[in-house]
Order: sequence, then structure tokens, then C-alpha cells
Amino acid sequence: MADRPKHPSENEKTENQVPGPGIGRRKFVKLVGGTSMAVTAGGVLAGAAVLPGIAAEAPSAVMGPTAIPITLRVNGEARKLMLEPRVTLLDALRNHLDLTGAKKVCDRGTCGACTVHLNGRAVYSCTVLAVDAAESGAEIHTIEGLAPEGQIHPLSAAFVANDGQQCGFCTPGFVMASKAYLDRHPHPSYNDVKEGLGGNFCRCGTYMGVRRAVVTVGGGAGIPPNEGDS
Ligand code: FES
Ligand code: FES
Repeated sequence: MADRPKHPSENEKTENQVPGPGIGRRKFVKLVGGTSMAVTAGGVLAGAAVLPGIAAEAPSAVMGPTAIPITLRVNGEARKLMLEPRVTLLDALRNHLDLTGAKKVCDRGTCGACTVHLNGRAVYSCTVLAVDAAESGAEIHTIEGLAPEGQIHPLSAAFVANDGQQCGFCTPGFVMASKAYLDRHPHPSYNDVKEGLGGNFCRCGTYMGVRRAVVTVGGGAGIPPNEGDS
């Protein structure tokens, strides 16, 4: 059984922007690329993954490899699906529920584009099996559920106001990671945000705008003088 590495925004304090406490990026990539999920030749071991706020259980049964019925709780609704146990939460959301806000970029827990919330914690949904999320009964929240239809969440609005996106491909992941971080650290400093969002990458380099947005939503003054890094 392997622990699922934490998203940096879950940590009380992160170090060197690595994906989890005590796990270097090289080891993390090895784990997830490996994979960290318990997959057997014939199927998936039930209860093998460790999800936020849920105690680890001993693997109890082999499921699959054919599709099985599962129910995911997404944005407050129970969604019934038939899925092969190997399907990740990210693919379940995008390919089976048409919730395409979470993006598939690295597909191995390094970029944060796929960030969603599980029981209020940010997770890389490409590293979680849908069947594990279903079995645990976890409440899943995606960017689509952040604000009511036709409205914009204040955090998303702050990204717009602070030029926190260019192509926007990384933005849903950043917003969800930022929301989880602000829920745990309501008034972060610029450097807090810089560390706390260390698990999300932006190829357009919009880091300054993202950090400014998050700091200002937390009531801070934005970017300190002489902070010109990206
Ligand atoms: S797609 Fe999941 S972390 Fe990159
Ligand atoms: S805005 Fe383009 S990758 Fe972040």
C-alpha cells in the first residue's frame, strides 16, 4: 500500500515546492509514474489509496478489470457511473461526467493542472482512482461547482483582475489549489502563497498575477516591493 502524496496547498508549511512532506520531486515522480496506485494485472485492490481525511484500509477485494458500478459525489450530487477500476478521478470527471475544468497535462502528479478538492483538500486528480474516491464516499468539488451557474467566485474574479492567466490552461487547477490554501490560511503573505502553490505550474509564467490575486483575496496588500521574480 502506498500513501498518496499530498498537494502542497494541503501542507501547513511546504518546503522547496515539493509535492508532499518529506518526498523529493524525483522520488515523487518515481512513485506516481510507478504508479502509487495499487493496480494488479487482473484489477485494482479496493481501498488501496489513502485519500484526504480518510483512514487507510487494508485492501479487501479485487475489482475489475471490467467496468463496475460506482457512485461519485461531485459538486453536491451523486453521479452514477460504470467504470473500469483503473480509471483515474481526472478521466472520470473529464471523459464520463463532461466536467472538463480540471485539465490533463502531465498525468503524473507534477503540474497541478488537474487539481480538484476531495473532502476540502486539494488533490491531483490524476493520482486518485475514481473507484477509491467512490468507495470512500468523498465529497469531490471541481471548478465547475465553485460558484452557482452564471456567477463568478470572488477568487476567480481576482485572477481576472490581477492578470492571473494568459492561455488559461493551468488556471482551474490554480484556482482550486488557491481555494484550498486560503481555506486553511485565510490571510497569507506573498511568500506564503508562493510556497503554498508550489505544486502548480504555469507555462505562460503568470505566477505574479496568481500570487497577487490570492494575497489580495486574503486581505493582503499584494506583491511586496522588489518582488520581481516569476
Ligand atoms: S495532470 Fe495531474 S498533476 Fe499534472
Ligand atoms: S496561463 Fe497558460 S499555462 Fe498558465
